[in-house]
Amino acid sequence: MKRKKIVAGNWKMNMTLDDSIELSNALININKSNVDVMIAPSFTNLYPLKKHFDTHQIDVIAQNVNQNSKGAFTGEVSVEMLKSIGVNCVIIGHSERRSLFGETDQILFEKVNYATSNDMNVIFCFGEELQQRQNGNYFDIIQQQLEIGVLSLPSELIKKVTLAYEPVWAIGTGVTANPDQIQEIHQFIRNLIHQRFDETISNSIRILYGGSVKSTNAVEIFNLADVDGGLIGGASLKFADFQSIVEAADV
Ligand code: PGA
Repeated sequence: MKRKKIVAGNWKMNMTLDDSIELSNALININKSNVDVMIAPSFTNLYPLKKHFDTHQIDVIAQNVNQNSKGAFTGEVSVEMLKSIGVNCVIIGHSERRSLFGETDQILFEKVNYATSNDMNVIFCFGEELQQRQNGNYFDIIQQQLEIGVLSLPSELIKKVTLAYEPVWAIGTGVTANPDQIQEIHQFIRNLIHQRFDETISNSIRILYGGSVKSTNAVEIFNLADVDGGLIGGASLKFADFQSIVEAADV
């Protein structure tokens, strides 16, 4: 089954408003006929960029969201707030949220469940750390992250989820997982989805790879059978690099 690829740029805590507008002006001209292009700027830049990209087929998505609808949660942003400015997709479970901000599998499940139940699409990130890769128990780790995070969702909600396999040892390190390592995990994930849901869902869910995707390795990674695009950190901050990565997915 042919799945439309996604290239999502995670800008993390980079870019002032002026920087964002400058890069966005360039991004508008990228040729993207058969790929879904998304960028995830900081909360402060979501609304202006949403307006900026209005008619330019670039989706503006959030990097995080709270699991509650409203209340005394200083510093947090709700699904309802995102939707009120037209943002319909959010990244949940990025390894930086897990390791630096203490987001557990259980909290992430609450976020995914709340967001998808309220008509918000989710890019759910997961992946093993270096030690776990070296110990050889990375399949168990990945299975556990998925079981708690998304596999207990009802089938109508899993349809709102895109998965992003991001081995922590490959994020921001310049070390990319090799194609065999990536395909092995992506196939494993698709099988888990099949076992838990059904063939239609496992064939249609999109599974992205993230971790040091660059213009030089994007074509090879995106050609793998179970890879449906990428979540791009560092390279999404540079126009030429991001452009080549989008073109690599535009097939
Ligand atoms: P990277 O980051 O492309 O800089 O490795 C990926 C990510 O954090 O999603």
